[in-house]
Amino acid sequence: MIRTEKLTKTYNNFRAVDELDLKVEAGELFGFLGPNGAGKTTTIRMLTTLTRPTGGEAWINEFNVSTQKFRAKQAFGVVQQHVSLDRELTVWESMELHARLHHIARAERRRRISELLDYVDLAGHYRNIVDELSGGMKRRLMIARALLHRPRLLFLDEPTVGLDAQVRRRLWDLIRRMNLDGATVFLTTHYIEEAEALCGRVGIIHQGKLIALDRPQELRRKVGMVAVETVSDGKGSDYRYFADRETAGAYVRTLPREVRTLVMRDSNLEDVFIELTGRKVKE
Ligand SMILES: Nc1ncnc2c1ncn2[C@@H]1O[C@H](COP(=O)(O)OP(=O)(O)O)[C@@H](O)[C@H]1O
Ligand SMILES: [Mg+2]
Repeated sequence: MIRTEKLTKTYNNFRAVDELDLKVEAGELFGFLGPNGAGKTTTIRMLTTLTRPTGGEAWINEFNVSTQKFRAKQAFGVVQQHVSLDRELTVWESMELHARLHHIARAERRRRISELLDYVDLAGHYRNIVDELSGGMKRRLMIARALLHRPRLLFLDEPTVGLDAQVRRRLWDLIRRMNLDGATVFLTTHYIEEAEALCGRVGIIHQGKLIALDRPQELRRKVGMVAVETVSDGKGSDYRYFADRETAGAYVRTLPREVRTLVMRDSNLEDVFIELTGRKVKE
């Protein structure tokens, strides 16, 4: 569904995306995880034909994003990172406007709009002014709008950024449901929990480069399934990783008394990121 070969975007001499090689199959719920500035939005903008690659190539549904723009565009819907809605319209009008842009015929428009508002749980709000919706509702409206032309692939750029935990979970449910209903989903996030909770496969991007790509479980396994965090006087935290609790326990028993805090826990994608880059995802 998505394929890139050495996809690159350079601004002056700065490589925002650096020779990205990626394949996402139809039906996947794929996560692109990385800290702010890693190159996630730039990647989405190239894949959705909003900005031209300066190197390499990309295909959506086998259509080249540079030379077969129009056909590539029919295959996907996109929800941008920043809320982009006409604030003074009603929910219905916003959908209507977008459906017209896609040249969807009148009767079909009505049917799809009510079906989609129902799908994202906004049916009861169709007369509300967009500006008065909560953050979570705005996101759901943007998703409904992106689905109007029935794309097989949906790009979601940081879909839950700035939303509180409960609203975020509700959006996760919607994203899972869309994927179960057949949509391929490519989402970006800088939230570890989001990538772990939602994604079948995760690509980790750091300074424009793809530094890991696998199922969350496999990424963890490579680092070690169990993490031991220690804090000693006068030193920062230290992380060590082990294949299992037994070997982690054996290590803990060798630790000197000065070690003050000690946590043994399952590893996560944050640990994977730290191991690969020496940094935390959110710094
Ligand atoms: N139009 C632009 N001109 C110059 N630099 C840019 C532009 N867009 C993005 N960048 C830079 O490219 C890098 C990646 O940005 P972005 O793709 O937005 O990262 P992310 O979405 O992962 O936070 C950042 O360092 C950013 O400042
Ligand atoms: Mg971004």
